[in-house]
Amino acid sequence: MIWLRIFFLALHLFLMNLASVGPLMAIWLDIRARRRDQPAVDLLGRRIGWWSLAALGLGILVGVIQGLLVWWGDGGPAYFDALFAVWQSKVIYGFWEIGFSFVCLAGYLFWWSSSERNALWQRFVSRFLAFLAATNLLYHFPTLFSIVGMIARGEVDVDSPVDSGEFRTLLVQGEVIWFTLHFWFASFAVSGLLAGIACLQRLPEEQREDTAGAAFTIALVPTVLQIPVGFLLTTSLNSGQQSRLMGGDSLCTALFVVSLGLAFWLMHLLAGLAFFERTSNKAYQTLAALGGTILLMTATMLLSRGGL
Ligand code: HEM
Repeated sequence: MIWLRIFFLALHLFLMNLASVGPLMAIWLDIRARRRDQPAVDLLGRRIGWWSLAALGLGILVGVIQGLLVWWGDGGPAYFDALFAVWQSKVIYGFWEIGFSFVCLAGYLFWWSSSERNALWQRFVSRFLAFLAATNLLYHFPTLFSIVGMIARGEVDVDSPVDSGEFRTLLVQGEVIWFTLHFWFASFAVSGLLAGIACLQRLPEEQREDTAGAAFTIALVPTVLQIPVGFLLTTSLNSGQQSRLMGGDSLCTALFVVSLGLAFWLMHLLAGLAFFERTSNKAYQTLAALGGTILLMTATMLLSRGGL
C-alpha cells in the first residue's frame, strides 16, 4: 500500500507542478512570440497552456485516488480528522479556488486562441488571468496540504475546528514555508524542462536553440536553489523524521542518499541543456532524472513520516 501511495503522490505532485507554473511559461512564450513575431512560439505557448489545464484536471483525479489510499491506510482516521478540522475554514474554499484557477486559465487560452488581442489592455488582462490561475494554486494548496499533514501527525497543537486566524498562524511554521518553496521551485523545474523539450520538438531550427536554452535555464536556476531550500526543509522537520533520514531507518536513509545523488545528476544534465548540447536524447534523459528525483524524494518523505 505504501508503494502505491508513493507512486500516486509523486504523480500528483508532478501534475500539480505543471498545472501551477505551466501557465507562467505560457505567458512567457506568449510575450516572446509577440515581441519577436514568431507564430511557432505562439502556438507552443498555447500548447503548454492546454497541457497545464489538462494537468490540473488529471492531477485532481490522481489526488482523489490518493485520498482513497490514505483513507484505506493505517493513518486514514488521523488524516481525515485533520482534513475535517480545516474543512469549513479552508477546504470548502479550496474547491472554489480550483474552479477559479480552471476558469481563469481556460479564459486566457480561449481568448488567446480566438482573437488577435491587438489592444495592449487585451493582452495585459488575458495574461493576468493566467497569472492569477498560477499564483492562486501556488499560494493555497502546498500550504494547505502540508498543514493538514502536520495536524494529522500531531506536529502542531490546534483547536478543532481550525478557524482562518489559527490557520494563518500555522502558515509561518518553518516546515510549511520551506516545503512550499520546495514545491514552487520543483514546479519551475518541471514546467521549464517540459517547455524546453517541446521547443526542441516543435520549433523551426532558427528559433529552437535560444528559446529552448532559455526554458532549460528557467528549469536549472530553481533546481540549484533547491540545495539551500532542501537543507532548510530538512532542518525544520521533527526529530523523529530527521533521525529516520539520517540512519535511523536504513531504507529511508538509502533512498534519501540516492535521491540527493540523482538531484545533483539532474543539475548537471540541466546545465548541459541550458549552456551546451541541446539534443532530444539528452532532454529525455534529463526528464527521466527529474521523474526519478521526484519519485525518490516522495518515497523518502512518506517513509520518514512513518507513512502518514
Ligand atoms: C481536489 C483536488 C485535490 C485533491 C483531492 C488532492 C489530494 C491530495 C491528497 C490526498 C494528498 C495527501 C497525500 C499523502 O499524504 O499521501 C495531497 C498532497 C499534496 N497535494 Fe493535493 N489534492 C488536490 C489538489 C492539489 C493542488 C491544486 C495542489 C497544488 C497546486 C496540490 C498539491 C499537493 C501537495 C504539494 C501535496 C503534498 C503535501 C505533503 O505531503 O506535505 N494538491 N493532495
